[in-house]
Amino acid sequence: MPRPEAEKRTALTLGQKKERGERIAAVTAYDFPTARLADEAGIDLILVGDSLGMVLQGHANTLTVTLEQMVYHSGLVSRAEPAALVVSDLPYGSYHGSVERAVESACRCVKDGGAEAVKLEGGRKRFRAIEAILDAEVPVLAHLGLTPQSVHALGGFKVQGKLREKAREIHRDALELEKLGVFAVVLESVPQELARRISADLRIPTIGIGAGSGCDGQILVFQDLVGFTGLYLPKFVRRYADTRAMWLDALRRYAGDVRAGSFPNDAESYHLGRDIDEFLK
Ligand code: KIV
Repeated sequence: MPRPEAEKRTALTLGQKKERGERIAAVTAYDFPTARLADEAGIDLILVGDSLGMVLQGHANTLTVTLEQMVYHSGLVSRAEPAALVVSDLPYGSYHGSVERAVESACRCVKDGGAEAVKLEGGRKRFRAIEAILDAEVPVLAHLGLTPQSVHALGGFKVQGKLREKAREIHRDALELEKLGVFAVVLESVPQELARRISADLRIPTIGIGAGSGCDGQILVFQDLVGFTGLYLPKFVRRYADTRAMWLDALRRYAGDVRAGSFPNDAESYHLGRDIDEFLK
């Protein structure tokens, strides 16, 4: 159930937040309990990110994630009925090559996954797909800068826009995306000066990750911010908790109690309240 006091966030109301000078707090979630937590914390936008390929599935990149998996995880998140806007990431290969495939993929996330918008990566190469998805009445969150699905083409997970030509391209693409009608743009791993300039030049919000404080909102991967991955963390991640250590301690104590025979105790077990030999006769 959505929190009764919380106003439902939509692609439109997130734009109004920028007009009022309010920042947008966004986070990823891949499941029901995380979505509920995020909602209780007052998060504005929940992204069912294809980062789940790395964070949940243990792959080295996001390229193996399938549309079926995104629809499944979107369903887990949308079942929490959060006040936050639920956005599904379109995975690699689900919007490339054919506009029809892009629309079909976006509609699946909405119809079967309960998503309220989709995110897809890339600038001008994706304009046709974005236009077609918007035409199918699905709000689109764009994603520029370091686009992880282009990891091989980019030669790795590298900061983008440090060279003038690339910075101009990202800036131009952002302006064009606004004209196309996307409701916001994620800026990932770009120099903060570039992100600040783009944010000033756009009416729609920018949502930064590794793009400095000049964006209109920020997004982090939930497991990174609560310290649950044992994986490498980029320098832009602020870890707000070390829950991995807490869970590890709990698991070790549980295993120890089981081996010592101290879990479960009598109070943690069901009772027949009668003599078992008599009872089984
Ligand atoms: O997949 C993802 O989680 C993302 C965000 C980190 C922006 O794309």
